[in-house]
Amino acid sequence: MKAGPLTGRRILVTSGPTHEPIDPVRYIANRSSGAQGTAIAEALVAQGAEVVFVTGPADAARPRGVHLVEVQSAQEMMQAVQEALPVDAAVFSAAVADWRVASASDSKIKKTKQGLPKLEFAENPDILATVSQLQNGRPKLVVGFAAETDDVLANATAKRTRKGCDWIVANDVSPETGIMGGSENAVTLISEDGAESWPRMGKTEVAKILAERIAKAL
Ligand code: C5P
Repeated sequence: MKAGPLTGRRILVTSGPTHEPIDPVRYIANRSSGAQGTAIAEALVAQGAEVVFVTGPADAARPRGVHLVEVQSAQEMMQAVQEALPVDAAVFSAAVADWRVASASDSKIKKTKQGLPKLEFAENPDILATVSQLQNGRPKLVVGFAAETDDVLANATAKRTRKGCDWIVANDVSPETGIMGGSENAVTLISEDGAESWPRMGKTEVAKILAERIAKAL
């Protein structure tokens, strides 16, 4: 492991999408590639941190030098996060599905003449809010992400308060920005001190600066 400003610090990073099963062969997912979370994990490792990387089924290559935990669903991610605690800091960059199918079928749902299947949804645990609001063993620094398409700053600022995290990294994921699935990001870092917009840059560069900020804050 590399020595650096984060040597001796244990940091959790969540990344990628989650897959919420409908039946054994179908699922509900989202377009997260896991690129930003992977870059953050690698940047933290480069600063000397011990990183637990909990990822959903992401396209991005897995980061090197981390404790890798692979999960499928939001509920599995919640459990893996709980098992990874305690940590000094936690970065929640995963795009966790808000809902799951309330009762996924154990066998493949068949086409029938009786009509279309009806899916009922249940709410998934909010991992970021749960960890942010821990009474015992809360990480010193909790960082959430806000992927928004409208009123990015207002929504992300409200999200920081609602969830109880320390920082929110906000970005505009409207299709025309090319950010979701792309190699660049334009983020605004929101903390209790206010909002700071960074110029558009590569996701690895965003990760490097964020890792340096985390090192300073710990
Ligand atoms: O509420 P929303 O999904 O927009 O919040 C985004 C932030 O919350 C991200 O940091 C994401 O990783 C986290 N999140 C979570 N668990 C959920 C939903 C979101 O950790 N169930």
